[in-house]
Amino acid sequence: MGMTSNMEIVIILQKLLDNRILTKEEFAYLIDHRDDSIPKLVNGKIAMESPRSILQKRANEIRQSVFGNKIYTRGLIEFTNYCKNNCYYCGIRAGNRNAERYRLTEDEIMDCCQTGYELGFRTFVLQGGEDPYFTDERIAQIVRNIKSIYSDCAVTLSVGEHEIETYRLWKEAGADRYLLRHETANDEHYRILHPEEMSASHRRQCLWNLKSLGYQTGAGFMVGSPGQTSAELAEDLLFLNNLRPEMIGIGPFIHHDQTPFASRPDGTKELTLFLLSILRVMFPKVLLPSTTALGTIAADGREQGILHGANVVMPNLSPVADRKKYSLYEHKICTGEEAAECRSCLANRMHLIGCELAVDRGDYQAS
Ligand code: 5AD
Ligand code: FES
Repeated sequence: MGMTSNMEIVIILQKLLDNRILTKEEFAYLIDHRDDSIPKLVNGKIAMESPRSILQKRANEIRQSVFGNKIYTRGLIEFTNYCKNNCYYCGIRAGNRNAERYRLTEDEIMDCCQTGYELGFRTFVLQGGEDPYFTDERIAQIVRNIKSIYSDCAVTLSVGEHEIETYRLWKEAGADRYLLRHETANDEHYRILHPEEMSASHRRQCLWNLKSLGYQTGAGFMVGSPGQTSAELAEDLLFLNNLRPEMIGIGPFIHHDQTPFASRPDGTKELTLFLLSILRVMFPKVLLPSTTALGTIAADGREQGILHGANVVMPNLSPVADRKKYSLYEHKICTGEEAAECRSCLANRMHLIGCELAVDRGDYQAS
């Protein structure tokens, strides 16, 4: 749109700021027109500013008013890269015969927690592929173990789609939170990203089940995934508005060479940041990570994520020997760094933008 001002976008933007919600058509329009120019008065002169820049400032203000300069941290433990699923975008899909598979032992997982605790982490995220070796009871036992030793810590599970009874077992074992990105809220788009045996509605049902069991629940999607348009992104925002999750994870799609999407273009930093800003405006209190994928497509990605409204970082606690093997996408950062190095690297990066890593569980605060 260049320098042409457009009243439509002004009205939509004001509506989002006032009501924290738009229609699907309005969201799609806002996404498509994020770089239009809107006039504003600066020192007696008319200047132009984009919706993107206006929303960034508002999102960063909201983040600061809700969380101050504190950034919550979660210690990520990628405990298995075996997976029975075959998502077309993911580097650890079952069909990738070249992936070097690993599983951490229970002792190794506990060692990660100890290192993490000493470094100041008070949330541990157990993430893995859907690996049948880790039966419901094995995972429950790991959760019980962590909670019995680190009773002041939160445990987050991120191990895919399961029966509600399984989710209940893990909740009763002490799990506090669950991450399960919905990936895309549009059923046809879901078909483009996943093989026949997976379904968008089943995944959404899992999210509703998790919420009903009292988990702090995280949904989310990739930005710029193959086949995604602004209309699909608008549907993602509306789905999140219905679900009202406590956590939302988004990051750019990044190709992986050993997947069917090897030659698909990566999502962009710019669109990911814009969506982070919209999400912070929609959900002032939501726990919103500045993701490793965002840090991978741009050197300043995670810092920019914070400045666009994100309030969480999730550095890796997995043993360095296995880090590279948990390769969902190419060129993932922090695969050679020890946990302590990542923690201090992130602490420095956050200081440089006026923020501080909190030693805190970082629970969702409803009121
Ligand atoms: N690029 C970016 N994100 C990816 N994920 C999986 N594969 C990729 C990829 N190639 C994301 C998915 C999943 C989360 C654990 O990682 O959204 O839910
Ligand atoms: Fe891992 Fe910087 S956060 S090295």
